[in-house]
Amino acid sequence: MTGQVAYGKNYFPREKDEKRIWRRLNHGSHLLLLAPRRVGKTSLLRNLELAPNDDYVFLYNIVQSCSTVHEYYERIIENLFKSEFTDRLNKFTNWGKDALTDFRNSIKGLNFSEAGIEFDSQERTLTHKDLKTLLDKIKIREKLIIVIDEFPDVLEKIHKDQGHGAAEIFLSGCRELWQDPALDQKIQFIFTGSIGLDSLVHKLNLSDLINVLINVTVDPLNEEKAFEFIEFISRKSQEEITFSDEIKTYILNKVSWYMPYYIEILLLSIEDYCCENDIIEPNPNDIDKAYEQLFSQNYLANFNHWAERLERLEKTEISFAHEVLNYIAINETISPQKIHNIKEAPQVTSVNSNYVVECLIHDGYIFETANREFQFTSPMLKEWWGRYANK
Ligand SMILES: Nc1ncnc2c1ncn2[C@@H]1O[C@H](COP(=O)(O)OP(=O)(O)OP(=O)(O)O)[C@@H](O)[C@H]1O
Ligand SMILES: [Mg+2]
Repeated sequence: MTGQVAYGKNYFPREKDEKRIWRRLNHGSHLLLLAPRRVGKTSLLRNLELAPNDDYVFLYNIVQSCSTVHEYYERIIENLFKSEFTDRLNKFTNWGKDALTDFRNSIKGLNFSEAGIEFDSQERTLTHKDLKTLLDKIKIREKLIIVIDEFPDVLEKIHKDQGHGAAEIFLSGCRELWQDPALDQKIQFIFTGSIGLDSLVHKLNLSDLINVLINVTVDPLNEEKAFEFIEFISRKSQEEITFSDEIKTYILNKVSWYMPYYIEILLLSIEDYCCENDIIEPNPNDIDKAYEQLFSQNYLANFNHWAERLERLEKTEISFAHEVLNYIAINETISPQKIHNIKEAPQVTSVNSNYVVECLIHDGYIFETANREFQFTSPMLKEWWGRYANK
């Protein structure tokens, strides 16, 4: 289903990105996977987890809903204790039942069941030290890769609710783990998320805390892969719609930025259009109609992710972002000079415009062109913005 993490047979392999990540992991680095919203970060990581290289075990954590340090470590520790992970680990440790119980009991003040963790007292809060205690107990030859998905969200929430000092303490705790010499031999972290951790820490003046992380990204598909992806999605469908090479090129021209999600939402609209009009071999005119349909009421939810992302900015930052996006929707591109002019307006002068522009890049709205101007990542998004988000 569009929008869900693509898993197992629904996952279209992205060998180049996967191999790059394995290379970096083989070097022993802790990684920061930065790529805009909806490009397929979670799908990629979950599929690495599903079929890891021989010498690795994965623990995947989604921490989006965690808004305190305690909740963050609770989530990871709970996942470490769950049988889904301990079964996997057991292949390498041959822990008996006693060793497993001992592992789960090694942190004082809490009880674990598959339903979750319960604490003896409300005052008991977890920190990175508790996670370290547990990780020290895992003695395997393989490397444990701890994936933390939506990590920047947690930092942002901690900062918003508890201030700069709390954000700094949180990041320092994280860093203690990834710089711990004993853990370094056997644990590696992959942090990921859709808001730019780099621009966030830069804004918070905490860049030096994450400088050991190695950046990796997920690239758009090249033309050949994008063609294959159209086939991949069509094969999953029960319908007998066929696309000539010319039509595939025509479809890809509409998408322009070859990310699976964009291609897929257009293909689904094409499938609907073809089925409802008894078309087996769509022509360019049919593709235009299906493209148009994407912006009708029933399909707009495909773009919700982008609308929601702006809401987390501050009010003046949102107005500024709107001005910039409106301008690009009309004029195709925006120059740094024009951005500067927009910032002159009294209601937005206080905005950190570089930060907002970086957010728009990370959220997958815009990218920087070779001429150092900014442009929508895809004409589809531009079209949507021009018609709806602006209302
Ligand atoms: N490798 C892939 N194979 C098939 N579909 C994919 C792939 N990658 C991404 N998609 C499509 O894109 C959508 C978004 O993927 P995913 O949730 O992995 O992205 P993300 O970068 O983690 O997004 P977010 O930033 O919103 O968490 C999926 O629901 C799926 O439709
Ligand atoms: Mg994701």
